[in-house]
Amino acid sequence: MTIRIAVVPGDGIGTEVIPAAVHVLQHLASRHDLALDLVPFDLGAERYLRDGTTMPPEVMERWRTDFQAILLGALGDPRVPGNQHAVDILLGARFQLDLYINLRPVRLLDARYTPLRGKDPSDIDFVVFRENTEGLYTGIGGQFKRGTPDEVTIEAELNTRKGVERIIRAAFAYAQAHGRGSVCMSDKSNAMRHGHDLWRRVFAEVSAEYPQIESFHLYVDALCMELVRAPERFEVIVTNNLFGDIITDLGAQLQGGIGLAASGNINPEGVALFEPVHGSAPDIVGRGIANPLAAILSVGMMLSHFGHADLDAAIQRAVQTCLAQGQVTPELGGELSTDQVTDRVIAHLR
Ligand code: IPM
Ligand code: MG
Repeated sequence: MTIRIAVVPGDGIGTEVIPAAVHVLQHLASRHDLALDLVPFDLGAERYLRDGTTMPPEVMERWRTDFQAILLGALGDPRVPGNQHAVDILLGARFQLDLYINLRPVRLLDARYTPLRGKDPSDIDFVVFRENTEGLYTGIGGQFKRGTPDEVTIEAELNTRKGVERIIRAAFAYAQAHGRGSVCMSDKSNAMRHGHDLWRRVFAEVSAEYPQIESFHLYVDALCMELVRAPERFEVIVTNNLFGDIITDLGAQLQGGIGLAASGNINPEGVALFEPVHGSAPDIVGRGIANPLAAILSVGMMLSHFGHADLDAAIQRAVQTCLAQGQVTPELGGELSTDQVTDRVIAHLR
């Protein structure tokens, strides 16, 4: 099967790390009998500033019907206040393509890069299942008397039975398939008594179907404490959209920084979008020092998603070797450029 991949470098360092990740992908394709069809898409701030286009509906339809995957760099540009293009493209794809699983592994590959004292790679190795299509991200709400002293705003949190159930089921199915012993569900049901009560009930129901997997619950504030105090407690975490956003940035630091955090936005019955967790980093753009490893690890997740777990493992080992040998970009204490790190990864893959 040919994997058709829409490639969207997007803004800022997205245009530096995506070519690096594509380079690694093409290297693997040429050696492992992988049929890939990479189709570039000119979307992002430049396009928006040029002709006002954010996300053409016909492109979204093509992604839905003609593609298996989307590889996205980053979206966000200081010249576009409010970053409407990022909302339309990234959140647009998540919602309209129903990419309901935001899968974010947090895995420490080399002990020296975690800010936690005394923690080893075996202590920091969990995955977050972030609900990706509802919660506080839908934009449901409004502003009344905007800009006046009497202003009122409402931001509604949407939790549907279907949405909560499918992400919790996905977390348990993953734990079972990958030999993970526990699933932690995190919410704030002590304060948010309607929506998060639904999470509690559904979690209890679904966990009863998996008696061999330990299930436990933590309020999200306690989860933040525990992630720093004892990350080894966690194997699979499932949570809502906003809490998942926040705890995966925390997780990114635990694993060595945002430059190492990869993610997949997945619809198990449809297309999937893979992207580094980091943003467009306008402060370092154009200097050739952006860390390509998160984008490269995201390509690994993509390959694993299409049944090539061996190639994902090979990428992780190559990245691990780079980290162990200090072959990294300046923000991790190294001296290499984006291209040099990419070349090292490819050399370690050989
Ligand atoms: C992420 C980002 C996005 C999010 C932003 C850019 C809307 O922070 O993918 O984690 O909040 O989901
Ligand atoms: Mg985020």
